[in-house]
Amino acid sequence: MSIQWFPGHMHLTRKAIAERVKAIDVVIEMLDARLPGSSANPLLAELTGHKPTLKVLNKQDMADPARTEQWLAHYRAQPGTRAIPLDASHTSPARALVAECRELAPLRGGMVKPLRVLICGIPNVGKSTLINTLMGKRAAKTGDEAGVTRNEQRVALADDCYLFDTPGVLWPRIVVPESGTLLAASGAVGRNAYDDETVALDLLDLLKVDYPALLEERYRFGLDPAALAQAHADALMESIGRQRGALVAGGKVNLTKAAELVIADFRQGHMGRITLETPPQFLRWLAAGEAADAERQKQRPDRPKARPARRR
Ligand code: G4P
Repeated sequence: MSIQWFPGHMHLTRKAIAERVKAIDVVIEMLDARLPGSSANPLLAELTGHKPTLKVLNKQDMADPARTEQWLAHYRAQPGTRAIPLDASHTSPARALVAECRELAPLRGGMVKPLRVLICGIPNVGKSTLINTLMGKRAAKTGDEAGVTRNEQRVALADDCYLFDTPGVLWPRIVVPESGTLLAASGAVGRNAYDDETVALDLLDLLKVDYPALLEERYRFGLDPAALAQAHADALMESIGRQRGALVAGGKVNLTKAAELVIADFRQGHMGRITLETPPQFLRWLAAGEAADAERQKQRPDRPKARPARRR
């Protein structure tokens, strides 16, 4: 699903990150473990690509453990990169974060050269929750609306290790249509940017193939995995709406309500532990997205050249 998403102020955030990165030793990139590839912002890689990076796969409690392992292996194979899973139940995550950051920047540390760490992540990955835990109080606001974390903060992770919050909000950049669906389903983009019904149908299409047993367990369609994989997402949504009493006058299913139920079930983890993409799948989507983008660029008519200024 391609979604309309034109966040403002990205140029300001870009400038601020580029400035901040100059005095940073390690970048922590927080990702949503349910959609690691799609929840990464390519702009961040562009701005911080030369810095050692720790990928934190957050919300791992909601993600499929086998797929989390695949993603960790994928990131750990990248140069200058380490990766760990995390979730909000870790009451003292500082020790693990510091240990990983020290491995990435072994020459920093001590009072003279403290280790300086920048934490980045698109809205809703759990950055405020982690910062709150690290600070031991509700310092950063958390909420289910995209983009609540705004003010820059500094947290002492150890006597000689400081964590800086990203200046500005790092909105997701949607490179491939599949990522649009995943980001919308996870709650990472504002509600006005997508249509609930489209997102829920795309989500059901994905889940009926990758997680038929979990889908059957949740909604009791009475279908075996092969039959579920063949079923139309519209029929599944109709069935869910009917079961849950999402009806309008005349007994027809209220599809908007049914879609909201599906999305809420996914977001709240009621369907079980799910990861919506694997590394090979995401890389395939990305390659196709980039090829389509290159094709679009080729077909764009050349912009008319600027007319020379008329002499007066
Ligand atoms: P952000 O700063 O990156 O925008 O994200 P934030 O911390 O506000 O977290 C977004 C939502 O994700 C919050 O839920 C938060 O509780 C939840 N969350 C954060 N980390 C984890 C985790 O490791 N596991 C799980 N399962 N959830 C996590 P919310 O419902 O929007 O708000 P709240 O009422 O729970 O605070």
